[in-house]
Amino acid sequence: MGEIFYPKKELFPYAKFKSMGDYWELVERFKRDYEGTWEAFAREKIDWFQLFDYPLDKSNAPFYKWFVNGKLNVTYQCIDRHLKDKKNKVAILWEGDNGEKRAITYLELYREVSRFANMLKDLGVKKGDRVVIYMPMIPEAVFAMLAVARIGAVHSVVFGGFSAEALKDRILDAQAKIVITADGAYRKGRPYMLKPVVDEALKGVDIVEKVVVVERNGEDICWVKGRDISYNELISNYPDTSQPEVMDSEDPLFLLYTSGSTGKPKGVQHSQAGYILWAQLTMEWVFDIQPNDTFWCTADIGWITGHTYIVYGPLASGATTLMFEGVLTYPDPGRGWRMVEEYQVNQFYTAPTAIRLLHKLGPDEPDKYDLSSLRILGTVGEPIDPPAWKWYYQKVGRGRCSIVDTWWQTETGGHMISPLPAATPVKPGSATFPLPGIFAEIVNENGEKAPVGEKGLLVIKKPWPSMIRTIWGDPDRFIQSYFSRVKIDGKPVYFSGDGAIYDEDGYIWITGRVDDVINVSGHRLGTAEIEAVIKKHPAVAEVAVVGRPDEIKGESIFAYIVLKGEDTIGEEMELVQEINQIITKEIGAIAKVDNFAFVPGLPKTRSGKIMRRILRAIAKGEEIKQDTSTLENPQIVEAIIQIVQKGS
Ligand code: WT7
Repeated sequence: MGEIFYPKKELFPYAKFKSMGDYWELVERFKRDYEGTWEAFAREKIDWFQLFDYPLDKSNAPFYKWFVNGKLNVTYQCIDRHLKDKKNKVAILWEGDNGEKRAITYLELYREVSRFANMLKDLGVKKGDRVVIYMPMIPEAVFAMLAVARIGAVHSVVFGGFSAEALKDRILDAQAKIVITADGAYRKGRPYMLKPVVDEALKGVDIVEKVVVVERNGEDICWVKGRDISYNELISNYPDTSQPEVMDSEDPLFLLYTSGSTGKPKGVQHSQAGYILWAQLTMEWVFDIQPNDTFWCTADIGWITGHTYIVYGPLASGATTLMFEGVLTYPDPGRGWRMVEEYQVNQFYTAPTAIRLLHKLGPDEPDKYDLSSLRILGTVGEPIDPPAWKWYYQKVGRGRCSIVDTWWQTETGGHMISPLPAATPVKPGSATFPLPGIFAEIVNENGEKAPVGEKGLLVIKKPWPSMIRTIWGDPDRFIQSYFSRVKIDGKPVYFSGDGAIYDEDGYIWITGRVDDVINVSGHRLGTAEIEAVIKKHPAVAEVAVVGRPDEIKGESIFAYIVLKGEDTIGEEMELVQEINQIITKEIGAIAKVDNFAFVPGLPKTRSGKIMRRILRAIAKGEEIKQDTSTLENPQIVEAIIQIVQKGS
């Protein structure tokens, strides 16, 4: 299946894996001696205050414990240990929406985090307390996360795009006593506000004692006496040195809320040692991080990608991490490429949705910039369609860079399935193979390995260090969500919620969430699968497919389509036919789309996930009950409703 692209090995003289032989060797070593191999990496990579007794405790599975009785502090791993030889190296490069720039060295980071840690202690934050961080993409957000971790408290970063209601739910669920926020920030040249959202969220909430406010945009906000504290006014009063709290390997490090297929968001709980180990190892293995590299992950710190690959991974590796407040397409679609040139970025990590948007708005923009510093281009979040992949490869990477299509989840803490940049021959659209140490497998409902070409469930057969430890306050839901559906030899294994397929060369192709399955006349169809086919039509820029109740077939297929250019408007009838021809050819007549809506855009979260629930509701003609304020583009919902109503 598909074309193969080989790495340009000369770009990676220091890579850990120089060939697939190197890869298989480590895979085999993990097979022979699973716990011993993890032990060796944990000994080598972590600066322990006290070495662990043994690597893995399985006695209370699936509540696994890693690196038992080890003592450490992840901020020591990310900051203090670099002060010996990298104190003047830039840890964080920051660019504001308006082009403003900051560079923070490791020594400065140590001081900022120390001051903030001292402030939090002074406010009464103790080991184990939860602190909610509701912040824009400014360095103080990183200082806040690390300060919380330094004193042994637990952070819960809530994405700045979430509404007051969503924020309130998370504050209450975590029982946070401190919230760290900012007045607001800038986006596309204009100020936006966060503090008023916090004020709203805290109405009727009495557990939050203090709100620390970083003043970023200087807009007017209200200050609640006795509760609100100005970071800018007070921070210089605190000493700029500190001792990191001694933490157990298994103490919680952070919570990060993520949506399940049912119910309220789940507070995914990660712990200390296993998480930081894998964050650091994947930086080396997947991103080939080298001492002089500048690493750029465009995610928001409100998502796991931002946690692991803006903050913890790069800093644990002693790298320079680039953090950006704005959006890649503002003031023009060359913004991101100009930044790559200016900062000589070596690894660029983004989402397929961003790649498609950049492709659409500025197909030739990359040509205008010197992108020769790039070695690795990363993608994450959804399967990448081959046209977007090829544009990324050819236009951005100029056919030299390795593309790493990294499959993972909030729950996995770090990459699970990904090419290794100097070793893996890649096929556009495939995340390729599990990383060494990760026993990912595609199985059927009975836990048997899926045959080539047959869609199965993606599971991880053995525990791994950076895995989710539990759902905060709801261990039953943890078991129910992840360790109930699939059993192998009678023992529950971690089920990802994703479907996937092996091709004849053993490559893994993620087909998307199995909870997004449509049942048409008794046939199960993956929305991602249908979308991939529709995208093959040259006029289609983006598509989302959902099910709509159908009297005869059970469900019929509804496709929302965004066209690439203006020139196909008025030709929808032809397009409908052409698209259905492609579907009939690629999947079969059973997958033909019954309903089309040609829309100006799709409702998306700011991390680029299409909100299918909203599209399903619109397709059914239901009222939208869901909170749309968290969307990248809330106004699109009304526009789509109008179009669908006119069409039916
Ligand atoms: C879900 C996890 C991990 C950070 C971003 C999202 C999908 C993720 C890929 C990929 C195909 C992917 C899966 C997964 N996904 N990466 N490379 N190819 N699908 O984190 O919100 O926890 O979502 O994103 O469906 O289960 P998340």
